Amino acid sequence: MASIIDKRLALHQRLAKKEQEYTALKSQNVQLQALANLGSATSMIAHEINNLLTPLANYAALAARNPQDADLVAKVLDKTVRNCERASKIMSSMLTMANGRPQDRHRVSVFALVEEVFTCLCRDFNKDGIVVRMDVPQTLEIACVPVQIQQVIMNLILNARDAMLPGGGLLKITAVQNGPTVEITVADTGKGIAPENIESIFEPFFTTKAAQEGPAAYSGSGVGLAFCKRVIDAHAGTISVESYPGQGTTFRVRLPDSPSP
Ligand SMILES: Nc1ncnc2c1ncn2[C@@H]1O[C@H](COP(=O)(O)OP(=O)(O)OP(=O)(O)O)[C@@H](O)[C@H]1O
Ligand SMILES: [Mg+2]
Repeated sequence: MASIIDKRLALHQRLAKKEQEYTALKSQNVQLQALANLGSATSMIAHEINNLLTPLANYAALAARNPQDADLVAKVLDKTVRNCERASKIMSSMLTMANGRPQDRHRVSVFALVEEVFTCLCRDFNKDGIVVRMDVPQTLEIACVPVQIQQVIMNLILNARDAMLPGGGLLKITAVQNGPTVEITVADTGKGIAPENIESIFEPFFTTKAAQEGPAAYSGSGVGLAFCKRVIDAHAGTISVESYPGQGTTFRVRLPDSPSP
C-alpha cells in the first residue's frame, strides 16, 4: 500500500518538475522568437537604408566631380534631405513592426507613392535603356503605412531593373481599384525567374545575384522580397508573381482598400 502512495507521490513530483521545465522552455522560446524578430528587422532596416543611400552616394559623387554645376548641387542637397528623412521614417516604422505594435495608416495617393520612389532612386532609367510606363490613376488612394508600401514598390522596381540589365527593356507599373481591393503590378521584360527558384524567392536571404556577379560588382542579399512579403502580410494583403524565363516577370500586390484593425 505504502509503495503505491510513494509511487504516486514520486509521479506527482516528476510531473511538477516537468511542468516547471516546460514553463521555462516556453519563456525561453518567447525570448528567442523576440531575438529572431529583432535579427530579421535589423537586416531589413539595413537593406532598406542601403536602398536609399546607394543611389544618393552615386548622385553626390557626380555633384562632387562637377561643383560648378549649381543646379546639380542643389538637386543633390534636396535629395539628401528627402532620403535622410525617409531613412529615419523607415527605421522607426520597422522598429515598430518588430515590436509587433500597430502602426498608423493613412489614405495616400498611389501615384504620389510611386513618383516618390523614382525621386529617391535618383537615376534616370533611360540611361540603362529602360523605358518606364506608368498607368496609375491620379485619383486612386490606398489606406496603408505609406513609408512601408513605398519601400515595397521600391524593392519591386529595383528587382525589375536588375533583371533587365544590361540590355534594358520595359518597366510597367499599373494600379487599379478592383472592388474592395487595390491592385498594384510591377512588370518587367527582363530575364525572368527559373521555375525551380519561384518557390524560394520570398524566403529571407534567397538570392541568385551573389553568385553571378564578381566581388566588386553589386550582389544581392536576398532580403528585398522577404521584406515585401512581411509588409504586405501586415497589411492583410497578398503578393504574387508570374514569370516567364527569358521574357519577363510580373509582381502583383493586392491590398484591401480600407484600414484593417
Ligand atoms: N523582377 C525579377 N526578375 C527576375 N528575378 C527576380 C525578380 N525579382 C526577384 N527575382 C529573383 O528573386 C531573388 C530574390 O529577390 P530579393 O529582392 O529578395 O533579393 P535580391 O534582389 O537578390 O537582393 P536584395 O533585394 O536583398 O538586394 C533574386 O535574387 C532573383 O533571383
Ligand atoms: Mg531585391
